[in-house]
Amino acid sequence: MAEKININKLNEMKTNGEKITMLTAYDYLMASQLDECGIDLILVGDSVGNVVIGYENTIPVTMEEMIHHCKAVTRGAKRAMVIGDLPFMSYQVSAEEAVKNAGRLLKEGGVKAVKLEGGKEILGTITKIVDAGIPVMGHLGLTPQSINKFGGYGVRGGGEKEAKKMIEDAKELESAGVFSIVLEKVPAKLAKRITDQIAVPTIGIGAGVDCDGQVLVTHDMLGLFEKFKPKFSKRYAEIGKEMKTCYKNYIKEVKNKEFPAEEHSY
Ligand code: KIV
Repeated sequence: MAEKININKLNEMKTNGEKITMLTAYDYLMASQLDECGIDLILVGDSVGNVVIGYENTIPVTMEEMIHHCKAVTRGAKRAMVIGDLPFMSYQVSAEEAVKNAGRLLKEGGVKAVKLEGGKEILGTITKIVDAGIPVMGHLGLTPQSINKFGGYGVRGGGEKEAKKMIEDAKELESAGVFSIVLEKVPAKLAKRITDQIAVPTIGIGAGVDCDGQVLVTHDMLGLFEKFKPKFSKRYAEIGKEMKTCYKNYIKEVKNKEFPAEEHSY
C-alpha cells in the first residue's frame, strides 16, 4: 500500500514544492473513492451542516453529528489523513472543553487531527490541544462559524491593515503548534505572502495557486450541491443534474411498468 499521509509527509511536501490535495467527505463511500484516487487529506468539514444535513450555515452543527460523520469517513480512508472540524461552540468556551472535544473526534471519530477557526483569540486553546498530543490545523480568512460577527461571506484580508493582521495571526498559529493552516477567500497575493513566511503548509480555498495545497467542498466540485456556486469552486462535473435524470427515469419507468423488466425479475 502507498505511504500513509502524516504531518511529517506534509512538511516534506511543502519543502519539495509538491502540492497537497484535500477534499471534504462526510461518508464512507465518498471517503473510499477519494482515498482510492490518491487524495492526501480528507476533511470532515462542518460544511456537512450545509451540504448534507440541510442547515442554513455551519452554526448548528453538533459534536455528535461530527463524530457520526468522522466515524463513517475514517472507515473508508486507508492512506489519506483524515481531519475533523471542531464545530461551533465546541472549543470557544474554554480550553478544557476544547481539549475534551478534540479528543472525542480522535477517540470516537477516529480522525488523526482536528481543525478549528480563528487567530490570536484561540492561541491558548490551540496550545492546550497540541500539548494533549492532538495535531491541529488552523483556519484563517473567511471563517464561516463567525458569520454573524462579520455579517457576510466576503473576501478577507483586502486592505493592508487586515493583511498584516492575517500574516501575524498565521505566524502566531504556527508558534502555537498548528501543523497546517487553511486560508479561505483570501487575495492570492496575501496567501502567497503568508505561505512564504511560515514553515507549515497552507491549504487554500479561494486563495490562489501559490498555497502549498488546495481544498474544495467535494459536493461543490462535483456539482452535487447546486444551491450556490462560489467563484472559487471549479465544477468538475454536473453530478446533481445527472442524478436527477436517473430519479426521473426511474419514476417514469415504474409508473409505466417498464421497470422491473424480465431480467430484474425472479
Ligand atoms: O467545513 C469545510 O468544509 C471547510 C472547508 C471549506 C475548508 O472548512
